[in-house]
Amino acid sequence: MSYILGIETSCDETAAAVVQDGRIVLSNIVYSQIPIHRQFGGVVPEVASRKHVEVIRRVVETALAESEIQAHELAGIAVTQGPGLVGPLLVGLSFAKAYSYGLGLPLLGVHHLDGHICANYLAFPDLEPPFLALIVSGGHSHFYHVKDYGEYQLLGGTRDDALGEAFDKVARMLDLPYPGGPEVEKLALSGQDVYAFPMAMLEEDSLDFSFSGMKSAIRNHLHKHPATDLKDRADIAHSFQERAFDVVEQKIKRAIKQTGANTLVIAGGVAANQRLRDRLNHLPVDLRFPPLKYCTDNAAMIASSGYYMIQNGKHSPLTLNAKPNLSLHSCG
Ligand code: KG4
Ligand code: ZN
Repeated sequence: MSYILGIETSCDETAAAVVQDGRIVLSNIVYSQIPIHRQFGGVVPEVASRKHVEVIRRVVETALAESEIQAHELAGIAVTQGPGLVGPLLVGLSFAKAYSYGLGLPLLGVHHLDGHICANYLAFPDLEPPFLALIVSGGHSHFYHVKDYGEYQLLGGTRDDALGEAFDKVARMLDLPYPGGPEVEKLALSGQDVYAFPMAMLEEDSLDFSFSGMKSAIRNHLHKHPATDLKDRADIAHSFQERAFDVVEQKIKRAIKQTGANTLVIAGGVAANQRLRDRLNHLPVDLRFPPLKYCTDNAAMIASSGYYMIQNGKHSPLTLNAKPNLSLHSCG
């Protein structure tokens, strides 16, 4: 049995978890800072760093206590190295380094997106690479061919605003609180599909995404026709969500055609969206969405990723530094 402690502090969640053999979650503690950042309309990095410092020890100790695993039984400490906000990342990294040094345990620097993909290993015991993965989060809309554990080929990615970022920005325009994704989803339920906001499909074979044109079109629309009543705002939220998911669905069809993939794994915060789940259900592919608690940021997914690093004979030096723009090929 191999137990990994995972630590995640890349944005506004302070999270720690203990996972057995990369798949079985023994504890999963997430301290969300959303109520703190909501008053500012978005994450304030310095405020996030300070809050992480304040609570990280308690979060880690609670994760260990709930797992009923003693620190000396751990096989390694996995921690998000990047991408993310540098201050918040450094808090988790410094804590993990001290813990790993103190206990004489391997340090495992994990890529946040690898973690999001591994979230699916927690939910689906039968899931094994190779498969096609789409990550839709606050910072990324990326297709990867997952060749093996920890082995990725980027097939297409975000050219400007990521999908979650577009949800957050449209939410702001509609005076909805942070984080915008779930708020837009909720408001869209009472709206109708009336606006043909422009969809950027890009070059014929491109698997890249661009949502900034759609976002600007909504901003221009609101300048010309301020949405004063709830019905107007709900129609905009609904139409934006449908057009954004039209793009996602068409790109997925393209990706399946190009790669011949049989299995598609969706990961990241936007994967929590029920409308997205319903829209993709009919696709002729073995479709996997993680349960909601593993879609948004958590440390169980980071522990799972760390387990597969150890399985691949990898670990990180204590000189490991936070990398806000880390790419998926250069982790650890
Ligand atoms: O994966 P995540 O928790 O953090 C990052 O790694 O970015 O994703 C957060 C993003 C935010 O942009 C948030 O608005 C979006 O995921 N999100 C959603 C939903 N829940 C979270 N977007 C659409 N619908 C949702 N239900
Ligand atoms: Zn994330």
